[in-house]
Amino acid sequence: MNQSDYYEIAERTLPGAGLGGYALADDVRFVIESGSGSRLRSVEGTEYIDYVGGAGAHLLGHCHPALVEAVKKQAERGMHYFGTLNDTAIELSDWLVDAIPCAEKIAYATTGSEATMYAMRMARAFTGRNKILKFEGAYHGNHDYSMYSVFPTRQENYPVAAANSGGVPEQLQSSVLVAPYNDLETVRSIVSANSDDLAVIVVECLQRIIMADTEFLQGLRALCDEKNIILMFDEVVTGFRVAWGGAQEMQGVIPDLATYGKVIGAGGPLACVAGRADIIDGANPAKKGQPDYAYMNGTLHGNPVAAAATIASLDIISQPGFFETLHGNSANFLAGMQEVLDRHGVPALAAGDKSFWQFLFMDTLPKTQVDMMNSDLVAMRKLDTEMLRRGIYVLPGVRRFISAVHTDADFARTIETLDEVCKTL
Ligand SMILES: Cc1ncc(COP(=O)(O)O)c(C=O)c1O
Repeated sequence: MNQSDYYEIAERTLPGAGLGGYALADDVRFVIESGSGSRLRSVEGTEYIDYVGGAGAHLLGHCHPALVEAVKKQAERGMHYFGTLNDTAIELSDWLVDAIPCAEKIAYATTGSEATMYAMRMARAFTGRNKILKFEGAYHGNHDYSMYSVFPTRQENYPVAAANSGGVPEQLQSSVLVAPYNDLETVRSIVSANSDDLAVIVVECLQRIIMADTEFLQGLRALCDEKNIILMFDEVVTGFRVAWGGAQEMQGVIPDLATYGKVIGAGGPLACVAGRADIIDGANPAKKGQPDYAYMNGTLHGNPVAAAATIASLDIISQPGFFETLHGNSANFLAGMQEVLDRHGVPALAAGDKSFWQFLFMDTLPKTQVDMMNSDLVAMRKLDTEMLRRGIYVLPGVRRFISAVHTDADFARTIETLDEVCKTL
């Protein structure tokens, strides 16, 4: 079958001929046949340098031999079990509790969305309170509680949340409060008006492409301590990417709960909630029937194939110098791209750090989602689309990643492509 045959089937069988929330424009779309290292190959044989990296799951690129070997070995012993422990999931829980600063215990989930949903439930069950506070523009997955104020098109009326999908129950709206990112004063006033019923503040330390100020996270920590509110970091993206101990290690602020996915799972169905034992123990099945029991259960929880791939990854990621090299490559790559943009007078930043990046058409790095909305989003998508057309796999307008297997040749070709695109802009 050729690419148009695949599209004919996809158009007939899949919503928007896609696999989720993204659909590439007709003139740049392609169907993936395989991936290897930093490269993807389409069913037509076109090669792409992959900066999507499985939405950040592939810190070690595609088909890393150590991961393939670990997956094969585990698959020969069993793809999936249920109802009692398996040795591989236990081995991984030991790695995770050891590595994640806030983790006295971890509880398995299947996806990052599931992990954030469980963590919110645990926080509610533990505190006996109902509300969550999230930030404008933050993404915590696909469940109903996180589908608020993720994709605003204008500044929100804080703390009123706006649903971003049909089908989200209206009744939930009053349980979700929204604050502007990096704005401690507004958070303080929302908290003082709601502290009796506020269970958890959930924050991404890297919200899409916006970095949290350290003082902001420190302020959230102090506020949560003062009001007995759970502080939850969503580390689905930052976990094992910005540092071995995630954003909490990098920022030196320790939350009560943290959610992990993507690098955890290594492309397979595995995620987790990590944190204080007294909160995580809310999911202990011996508590069933008690008001502070937080139900957690899933067919694929502790999936041994994904656990085996994750252990093989962590074994590599934990090697001395891993993050220095990854983050050093990232800094050089971004500097190279910035030089090209500046030379061509393109008013954009090659924004990013520590292996995540994006082109932003603005003068200074954003602090809030409103800053993002005020930038030239049309120009950003145009530049991205032209890169994609030339074999650099990025999703237009979406933050992207470098992996530990991107090579100097990949970076050089990407910078040359940017140069070519800038000439045409
Ligand atoms: C910060 C963050 N939290 C949660 C999720 C949801 O993870 P998943 O797509 O595995 O459900 C994502 C996904 O991109 C994310 O970026």
